[in-house]
Parts: sequence; structure tokens; C-alpha cells
Amino acid sequence: MCGIIGYAGHRPAVPLIVEGLRRLEYRGYDSAGVATVQNKEIDLVRAEGKLAALDEKLSHINVTNSTFGVGHTRWATHGVPVEKNAHPHLDHDKNIAMIHNGIIENYQEIKAELVTKGYEFRSDTDSEVLVNLIAEGRKHNDTMLKAVSWALNQVEGAYAIALVAVDEPGTVYAARVSSPMVMGVGVGENFVASDIPAFLPYTRKVVFIEDGELVKITSSSWEVFRAENLAPVEKEVQTINWDVQAAQKGGHKHFMIKEIFEQPKVISDCLAGRININSSTDIGEVVLPEISAMEPPERLHIIACGTSYHAGLWGKYLIEQWAKIPVDVEIASEFRYRDPLLSKGSLALAISQSGETADTLAGIKLAKQKGLPILGLCNVVGSSVARESDYIMYTQAGPEISVASTKAMCSQLTALLLLALYWGKRKGVLDEETYSRAVQDLRNLPSILDAELPAMRARAKELSREYSEANSFFYLGRGQYFPLALEGALKLKEISYIHAEGYAAGEMKHGPIALIDPKFPTFAMALKDELFPKVKSNLVEVQARGGEIIALTNPGVELDVEHRWILPEVWGPLNAFMALPALQLFAYETADYLGKDVDQPRNLAKSVTVE
Ligand code: G6P
Repeated sequence: MCGIIGYAGHRPAVPLIVEGLRRLEYRGYDSAGVATVQNKEIDLVRAEGKLAALDEKLSHINVTNSTFGVGHTRWATHGVPVEKNAHPHLDHDKNIAMIHNGIIENYQEIKAELVTKGYEFRSDTDSEVLVNLIAEGRKHNDTMLKAVSWALNQVEGAYAIALVAVDEPGTVYAARVSSPMVMGVGVGENFVASDIPAFLPYTRKVVFIEDGELVKITSSSWEVFRAENLAPVEKEVQTINWDVQAAQKGGHKHFMIKEIFEQPKVISDCLAGRININSSTDIGEVVLPEISAMEPPERLHIIACGTSYHAGLWGKYLIEQWAKIPVDVEIASEFRYRDPLLSKGSLALAISQSGETADTLAGIKLAKQKGLPILGLCNVVGSSVARESDYIMYTQAGPEISVASTKAMCSQLTALLLLALYWGKRKGVLDEETYSRAVQDLRNLPSILDAELPAMRARAKELSREYSEANSFFYLGRGQYFPLALEGALKLKEISYIHAEGYAAGEMKHGPIALIDPKFPTFAMALKDELFPKVKSNLVEVQARGGEIIALTNPGVELDVEHRWILPEVWGPLNAFMALPALQLFAYETADYLGKDVDQPRNLAKSVTVE
């Protein structure tokens, strides 16, 4: 949560930082601010609300031409989202401006100590305590580098910070523990930020900063130290292959719709290099070099949050069915505080788009403590999940900017399906016919989905107009469609703020059906599979209580409901890849029609780096 950026280079810092913040705004949007230094003074501009409010404010003032500075977009933790709590925060004497993402857990003790030394505080934040502690450190140390290290040795918690100081023009310091930070290495300019898109237009050369590291950048140099003792750390510069366009809307109204439409490509990209085609037989074989050194696990514990958790639930069906591996799917925030029984031979699979979700990382830590190897399935290269995992499989979905996750889930389903095939084959428990059919049809799936998406969108639009007044929705499904029902409901509530519940269709009659009336519609996953007759009976029960139904279904399925939404039928589990965008599009069109802020829904953040 919160987006941070620090810049030291040759361009005017304020516009560059604000642009960078725009690309990070998905991380938080309660308030924003920027600080630069000129003529030994800090120039600080902050505004409550979205970045547009900061932009507006900046347009009325003369900003400095300073070529270094820091900026922040906030997702409030300590202190309500008003201007005084916005970042950057200044120390008492206004010599240092600091931005912070995370939580300083022992800030109250430190604050009490600083108050006795005469420090006064202007905000309710834990961050302001840290910047003052650094200022105090400066009194005891001859350089800012030492002062930052001195202060960080006293704080507990999670943080990514960046700061500028009046007595060191041209320099930005940054550090992290359990909050994301990456450095961008440019020509005559260097960057630090929470995420790569912040500086993507300027450089694709990155250095991933690890926990406990402290960074010093100027326009012409960068150095990394251990924060605790200032020992220099050797770092590798990596070149990432994301392009700038991928992090822009490319003519679409919202990132979300762009990302929904990218899903055919996401499937192809996730398959790339993972299916080897034998030219003589034309039958593909799943190769997963990332995990080839590992024996298939005896049991799998999937740990994830939000949409990634729903992907895990879906994966359970296939991994159990095809690879005959028992799978437990755990909500990370629950798993981390249990005393789970994890047997030898088990593997923990952490699924995370961002790779920075605090609960998922804590789940990884617990599983590790209990002796389990970790396989990470994540989208962001070099993220914390990737680095904490023993094995890492990247989902290759490209940058996902919209807060509501769409294409990342599609890529997670693809990867889980590959895992089920790979382990099933390696264990010799999956029949050849299913294996080759799955591989074959997976390869054809992107073009089928691509062709269908425009029609899906049109249907979603039509239906959204009819149901936008609804106060509540049920999403029902069975088997592999139950996790999708959960996801459909999550998407609708996240972005349109319409109450929605995902339910296993067979469970409806154990309580929830009491809610059904003519104003409480149901979105049913009634696709053609062996469970369809059961779903059909559940829908009849809903209709008997006067509930209206939209049913996602396939050609030739007999179903008497208000709205049949017919999707082309593909093979078996691949139908999930057709149903998922339909659910996403219905939520998208509803939210857009209702005039909601689709890409940045209220109270949410893309990457939840706090508990
Ligand atoms: C947040 C996002 C969700 C996401 C969840 C897990 O709540 O708003 O879209 O599914 O975090 O994130 P992860 O990055 O771990 O997949």
C-alpha cells in the first residue's frame, strides 16, 4: 500500500515525480504529496484526496526546478486521510522530508522519548516519528547516511522510506523492511520506487532492494548498504522486459477493461516456453523448468488472499483430479495465525499477483518455519514472494494496474492448470487422452477467447443496464465454477459497491435462499458439465421464490431463466477461462454505468502490504 518514488537526476523533479505517482496511484489514493529541496529549503506540496487534487494545487504555484525529490501517494493506516497526515513528512526543524510506506510498530515509545527532547509533532502518523528520529540521529552522526542507519536500528515494523535533506542537495536516501522497493538505474539519473511502472518511461534497468538494505542515490551514482552497519552490498542490475505501453491505458477508458481484453495474450504468454511441441506428433508436452528439480509433493497447501485465493480454490479441483495430490487452500490471514499441521513431503504454494501481500508473506514464513519448501506463483519479478520462495513460477501477465485484479487471475489459472498436468504426468496418474486434449486445447484457447470478448462485452453492457439498480446479487456455481462464483461476486462488490455473495449452489438451501425475492437477482454459472443438472435444480428453487436469474451457459443447454448468456463451449476445465471474463465484464460494465471509479475503488489498494 502507498506508492513512493524518489528521484535524483537532471530533469525537474516535481513533474517527473507526479507522473511517477500517477503510475503508482493504484497503490493508494487517500492523499498525495511531493517534496524537493532548493536553496537549502524544503519545498513541500501535499493534498488530500486523489493525485488530481495535488495536480490542481501544483498548477497554481511556482514549483521549484530542483532535480531531486520524493513523492508519495497514500493509503491511510495511522491517521485519517487529511492533508496534515499526507506524506512527505518533515522533521521538527524542516531539514528532512521523508515518505513512508508501511507501519512503524514502536512509534509510540519513540515519540514519547522524542517529546521529552522537545520535538513537536504536526500529524497523527507513525511516519513523522521516524523522520524526527532521523533528525535526532543527525545530531549524533556526522553524515546523513549514518543518521538514517542509526534511526533504522531503533525502529520495528515494516517500511519502505525515501528522504531528501537540505544539507545534502542532490541525494536521495531510501531503505526497506517488508515493504516493496526497487531502484531504477538510468543515465544521469536514478530512481527508487515501490514498483517498476513509476520509472518505466526512463529506464528498464532495475536493482531489487532487499529487506534491511539502505540505498543512496545521486544523479550519477548509486550505492547499497546494510542498514544496520553500513557494510556495502554488491547488487546485480537486471533488465526487465516490461514495456512502457503495457503500463498505459492504450486508448481504453480504464485499465480494468484493457486488462480484461489482454487475457488471450496473457494465456499465450503464460504458456510460452512451457509447452514443448514434438514436431513429429504435434503433441505438446508441459515443461516447467522452474520446478523440474522438485519431486511432485505429497500434499499441497495453497496460501493466498483475495482473487489469488479464488484462483487457488479453482486449482484445487484440477490438481486433485489430475495429479492426485490432496490440496488445502488457505486464506493467508487465517493460515498465519493457526498452528497448521504440515506434514513432511508437503509443499506450500503461495499465489500472489503483486508478491508483496503481507499476509501471504507471513504465511510463507510460517510454512518455512514448519519445514515446508515454498513454491511462489507470482506476477511481479523480483517481488518479496519471489525472493522468499524456494521455487518461483512467474505468471507472465505483465503489469496489472487496475486495483480489481482480472488478467492476473487468468494467468494464475493457466499456471495452475499447467501444474496439474505436469505433476499428473510425472506421477503417471493422468491418462494420456486427457493430457493431450488439455495441452492441445489450451494452445487454441487464446484465439477462441479473443474472438468472443467483444460479444461478451456487448452482452455484459446490456445486462448491466437492466440490473444496475439491484441492491444485492447472488453468484452461484458448483465444482470448478464455485470459485468463479466467489470471484464474480468479489468483482461486483469491489468496483460497483453492490452487495454480492458467492455461494456453492447446493448450499443455498441451507440458509441464503431465505433472502431471495423478486428484487434479489442471481447470477448463475450454469455451464455444460456433469454437475449442470444439479445446478439446474438449484436454479428452479431460486425461481420458485420469485428470484430472477442471469445464467452463463453454453449452446444447446436447456434452461428456462430470464437471461441466458451463451458462451461458446470449449473443452472441460477450459470453460473457466471463458466464464471468468464474462463475470469481470459484467462487474466492469455495471460499475462504469453507475459512474464508479473503476480503476481505483474506494477503500481498496492493489497491494496490501499491511495486515
Ligand atoms: C488486494 C487486491 C486484490 C488482490 C489481493 C491479493 O486486496 O485489491 O485484487 O487479489 O490484494 O493480492 P496479491 O497481489 O497477493 O495477489
